Amino acid sequence: MSKELKFDFDYEILPENHSKFDLSFKLIVIGDSGVGKSCLTTQATKGIFEDTYNATIGFEFFTFNVKLCGKIIKLQIWDTCGQELYRSLITNFYRNASLAIIVYSVNERKTFENIDLWHKELRTHSSPNVKVFLIGNKIDLADERKVQTEEGEKYIEQFKINKFIETSAKSGFNAKNMFIEAAKLLYDDYLLFHRDTESDYNSDISGKNQDTYERSMDLNSASSSVQDNKKEKKKKCC
Ligand code: GTP
Repeated sequence: MSKELKFDFDYEILPENHSKFDLSFKLIVIGDSGVGKSCLTTQATKGIFEDTYNATIGFEFFTFNVKLCGKIIKLQIWDTCGQELYRSLITNFYRNASLAIIVYSVNERKTFENIDLWHKELRTHSSPNVKVFLIGNKIDLADERKVQTEEGEKYIEQFKINKFIETSAKSGFNAKNMFIEAAKLLYDDYLLFHRDTESDYNSDISGKNQDTYERSMDLNSASSSVQDNKKEKKKKCC
């Protein structure tokens, strides 16, 4: 049974064109062709679902802005194409990604089996600290389901993936929630490694969006050097 994500913190989704932000993170969306990557991203950012299939060529770029604990988090979402033909091209987009979303379709077992390939490719081309979500999309097609919820849950335990979420781009189930969850995880992670400098950070952020952007891009490289502090400094934003 698919679970709807619920949050025990306050948040506010801001318009896609909201220009100001405190922190920004790069996300990439990967997975086989036709699993619904573009539809999910379009549903979450624009509230639109398109029934007709238009294969992505190269990539499409979206933004998702959410206010968490008084801070505006901008997710820069790179929706990539799943076609084999462009596979080598999209590995370039893995660089500097803070979080990768691997999508399969619950009504096509082959797309679930191919997660291994996507996951390996991600690990080869991205930072070792990249966070990963596994998404089982198209749960509205209940009668055609070929991959059970438990299989996704088992997969993330086995391969130490941060989160498993089932979604429907068509109904909107968990589409926005998936990005709120991503923003919260990345912000908590940011705080974990920057809490000591948080006061410096607060005095810096007024109007210096480019600066905060570069700080967020440093997150992956910074995190490996402070791994040992992680257990002691387990702090969350709110
Ligand atoms: P590429 O661009 O080729 O990589 O494909 P993609 O993964 O971006 O797939 P896309 O979002 O274009 O969706 C492919 C097809 O699946 C379209 O016809 C969508 O209408 C359909 N689709 C996407 N998500 C859902 C969903 O949640 N439920 C249903 N029933 N259909 C969906």
